[in-house]
Amino acid sequence: MKSVTFALLGSFVVLLSAGCGDEPKLSREELQDPNTCLSCHKTHHDQWSGSMHAYASTDPVFRAMHKRGQREDDSIGLLCVSCHAPMAVENGTITLANVKDFDFSTLPPTEDGVTCYFCHNVEKVTTDHNNGLVLANDQTMRGGLQNPIDSTAHHSKYDVLMDSERNKSEMCGSCHDVVMPNGVALERTFMEWKETIYGTTEDPAVKLTCGGCHLEPVTDVIADAPGVVSRPNGFHDHTMAGIDQALTPFPQQAEQAQAIADILPSIGIKSPRPLIGPAPGGICLNPNGDLTVRVDSFTVGHSFPSGVSHDRRVWLEVIAYDVNNQIVFQSGVVPNGMDPEEIGDPNLFGLWERTSKEDGSPAHFFHEVATIDPNPLHYLPGPVTLDPNDPRVDHSRMKTYAVTNIGAIEKITARVMMRALPFATLRLLEQSGDLDPSIKNQLKTLEVATSTWLKATQIPTTKCNPK
Ligand code: HEC
Ligand code: HEC
Ligand code: HEC
Ligand code: HEC
Ligand code: HEC
Repeated sequence: MKSVTFALLGSFVVLLSAGCGDEPKLSREELQDPNTCLSCHKTHHDQWSGSMHAYASTDPVFRAMHKRGQREDDSIGLLCVSCHAPMAVENGTITLANVKDFDFSTLPPTEDGVTCYFCHNVEKVTTDHNNGLVLANDQTMRGGLQNPIDSTAHHSKYDVLMDSERNKSEMCGSCHDVVMPNGVALERTFMEWKETIYGTTEDPAVKLTCGGCHLEPVTDVIADAPGVVSRPNGFHDHTMAGIDQALTPFPQQAEQAQAIADILPSIGIKSPRPLIGPAPGGICLNPNGDLTVRVDSFTVGHSFPSGVSHDRRVWLEVIAYDVNNQIVFQSGVVPNGMDPEEIGDPNLFGLWERTSKEDGSPAHFFHEVATIDPNPLHYLPGPVTLDPNDPRVDHSRMKTYAVTNIGAIEKITARVMMRALPFATLRLLEQSGDLDPSIKNQLKTLEVATSTWLKATQIPTTKCNPK
């Protein structure tokens, strides 16, 4: 080890180490354990410990899908684990020889999920998908800090790859795009981001990387260690919430749920950005008998849903009432335990990716997907411009419902609902003995956005609800 060699060199080294701050650091093995970081970076640790990154190889649905996938498809190999337990692959704990029936509950903290060390030891990015991150395997923690003070635990280094203001999302992006062995690009969050205004602009006031949105900075100290002072926008939130949450007891569940609730206003039932005039709300009862509802996303840097968008279920629930509060029309009323596609609703407006197997039947598992239906009504794209005079500023999606007897309608409620996974997939995993049946009871149905139209307050000219 470096420090031992230095010690042998005697007094010459004392000079050197005083100059470079090169005292012995913790070993690579110690640095791989997230618990090592607790003593100095407790808040980072707490936030990460409840994140989907920490959950990535604990997630019972991941474990079940992986087990089934390995049984049914020989081409998967180390693909899934290289992203869900990257340190276990890096250290040779999971190999091609044992991956087929690997028991994830045996993973030590050093190799469980996407760890601190994995992200903070990245030296270069070699591909834009399937985790092309290469580690330095040293005792240096890379971050976005320009002039870190020396620590007794590790060397520190500024790396532009980690700097959310200056990078090109390539570190996060490399793990957030999945291309299956058959060539199907199943997760495309990074690709989608590259098409949005946040990914194409050179204007620093508009540019937003993955970290720019998902690692919100606050002014605070970064480490509880001697000499550390608060840095302006120096502390980056590591909750990294999206829309998913743990299905089994896990740390920080209330905080994760709150973080998800905090970003849900990014989806709304609203009009398109108006080119001229005031913006009416997203529900309109048109004189020709159509009922239209418009859904849009705001400050989302990719599609909605994104990532495992074939697993997400997002749908629009619309209910129209008469003066006696009797229902005169409804769509998308999905009971708990059923998926939106199972209720036999011909008007259903559902935002998720429809995937099919080789034989054209619906695919529920990564390894079954042969084709993806490219229908643009199956997702909300991210923004390509923020210029209110550019027609492309409107990236909303509108659903038109043919409604009889519109004169009777007094009130309409519309809600965007969401589940992280379909019940059908969980049932299939139960049937094959890969998933505990109690897991599906933990699946949450979230209300993402809501809006109400009242005859009494509609805008007379447009028959839409006010903003
Ligand atoms: C003994 C205390 C201590 C421990 C333990 C510790 N760190 Fe640090 N770390 C520091 C100090 C001090 C800084 C510099 C803070 C500053 O300059 O404001 C720092 C900075 C960092 C940075 C920023 C580097 C940069 O240049 O941007 C990262 C990343 C980091 N630590 C990660 C970790 C991780 C991961 C662990 C656990 C494996 C860990 N640290 C354990 C004290 C510690
Ligand atoms: C998914 C990747 C990822 C994981 C996992 C992760 N970090 Fe970070 N972390 C980052 C990025 C990216 C930054 C730099 C953000 C910037 O500067 O824009 C960062 C910054 C930091 C910093 C520097 C101060 C700051 O907030 O910018 C510290 C310290 C740190 N992380 C500690 C940890 C610890 C401790 C863990 C595990 C308990 C951890 N990180 C897990 C990606 C990660
Ligand atoms: C402009 C802000 C913004 C940027 C930039 C951004 N995101 Fe997001 N992201 C969001 C919001 C808001 C949500 C919650 C709504 C949603 O699910 O789309 C989200 C959700 C997600 C989800 C969950 C999606 C799902 O439907 O399961 C993932 C994964 C994600 N982001 C990763 C990334 C990655 C990786 C990048 C960079 C390539 C990135 N994000 C860039 C704002 C952003
Ligand atoms: C080693 C691969 C890897 C890297 C690097 C990585 N992620 Fe992730 N990320 C994952 C995996 C795997 C999951 C999902 C775990 C699960 O739900 O089982 C995830 C989940 C997420 C989620 C939660 C999505 C949801 O639906 O709730 C967000 C947000 C996210 N990552 C953002 C980021 C950002 C921002 C970065 C860069 C700072 C990053 N990730 C870097 C692998 C990675
Ligand atoms: C390139 C990295 C990568 C690879 C390879 C990968 N995943 Fe993931 N996985 C992710 C990321 C990132 C997310 C989070 C996306 C999101 O939230 O939309 C995720 C999410 C998931 C989820 C969703 C968890 C939940 O509860 O919602 C499951 C299940 C999953 N992956 C299983 C697999 C399986 C099985 C394989 C192999 C066939 C696989 N993954 C391969 C990166 C990867």
